[in-house]
Amino acid sequence: MSKLLVTGRKKLSGEVSVQGAKNSVLPILSASLLARGESVIYNCPDLSDVEASVNILRYLGCRAERSGQTLVINTDGFDRCDIPDSLMRKTRSSIVFLGAVLARAGRVRLSFPGGCEIGLRPIDMHLNALRKLGAEIRERHGCLDCRAPYGLRGCKISLDFPSVGATEHIMIAACLANGTTCVTNAAREPEIRDLADFLNSCGAKIYGAGEGEVVIDGVGSLSGCAHSVIPDRIVAATFMSAAAATGSEITLTDVIPAHLGAVIPVFEDMGCVIRSSGTTLRIGAPERLKPLAAVSTMPYPGFPTDAQAPVMAAACVADGTSVFIENIFENRFRHTRELARMGAKIKTEGRVCVVEGRERLYGAKVDSTDLRGAAALVVASLCAEGKTRIGSIRYLERGYENLEVALSSLGADIKRI
Ligand code: UD1
Repeated sequence: MSKLLVTGRKKLSGEVSVQGAKNSVLPILSASLLARGESVIYNCPDLSDVEASVNILRYLGCRAERSGQTLVINTDGFDRCDIPDSLMRKTRSSIVFLGAVLARAGRVRLSFPGGCEIGLRPIDMHLNALRKLGAEIRERHGCLDCRAPYGLRGCKISLDFPSVGATEHIMIAACLANGTTCVTNAAREPEIRDLADFLNSCGAKIYGAGEGEVVIDGVGSLSGCAHSVIPDRIVAATFMSAAAATGSEITLTDVIPAHLGAVIPVFEDMGCVIRSSGTTLRIGAPERLKPLAAVSTMPYPGFPTDAQAPVMAAACVADGTSVFIENIFENRFRHTRELARMGAKIKTEGRVCVVEGRERLYGAKVDSTDLRGAAALVVASLCAEGKTRIGSIRYLERGYENLEVALSSLGADIKRI
């Protein structure tokens, strides 16, 4: 199994391009099933989570061909209404295929999804919403048997929490429904707007995506389109964390600074200087970072839970005590144990994590715990003295495309072994 070997304390410099957003492309791949014919997805990152969704599409009878960052999907061969457990378990977002297959075929049988263990991650909001849309769902022996014998029908859905996945799932399921669906307390993440842009290009009628209320007017059919995926704001935040932790100055290209509205001020609070223009963002970090008073993860436009771990890794070498409050997932501090092996001083109490900054971290053998936890270990290793060996990097591969290549190009001493 691959590991990363990092020799830390190298300054980073230069320019790096930010990949397409994992959290956009995954629901877009599920949504592509609704569109007849061919869809072309540009800026599609090459990730194991993307591969997992592509494998589901292929299992369902679709064709999918990748050439570089372009993925061409043809759904004309779609001929199955079941997804085996082995494919469902690969990612959490596989659950969104439920609504997609149901909307297109009127029935589907699949098992519960997998994904990183960062909390209980129930799917109750997804299932309740689909039931409201008219789906009959039976849960038996870990399987979900779903039918919509009379088709799905538009309705009003108010989410208890602005769940990203549930909002996307409803948008996908409601596109071909009979009548209008209105979702209130919808999630407002940029990836939701990107999904709506894709679906609308296919002929859907979705209004207000990216706002708290989304309206979907059902249409008779959708046909494939060409769509370019937005840049990954979490990957951008990870590169920013790497620059901050190593006291470096780097430039990110292919980024949308407006999507980093809650992230940029956090780095500024640490003493970094950030300048952005168009799709470029330059970050310059001081020799020693300032501590963070309190970083509280919140639904967008708040500070993203996915950026908590990499930013925390930078805060481990700040000049003082930083506090992190995790409000989205209940088990998202697992990386702290591994950071402690590198000399980080971190205390965790429920949803609160107190990080006492040290002048230096030290290389160690560490193991990735989940996707963003793995990114935190990479950030920490870049500023640590000596060699760090990061295991279980399959987690990293879920969301980062050739991270070690990008960091090497910036001057880091990092290689896959
Ligand atoms: C998505 C992102 C993930 C990010 C998260 C929060 C993708 C592929 N993944 O995950 O990277 O960390 O948003 O920004 O886009 N919940 C329920 N019941 C449900 C659904 C969710 O209780 O039916 C809870 C979850 O356990 C969690 C909270 O709601 O505590 C938010 O989860 P949600 O926004 O749904 O996250 P995901 O869509 O899984």
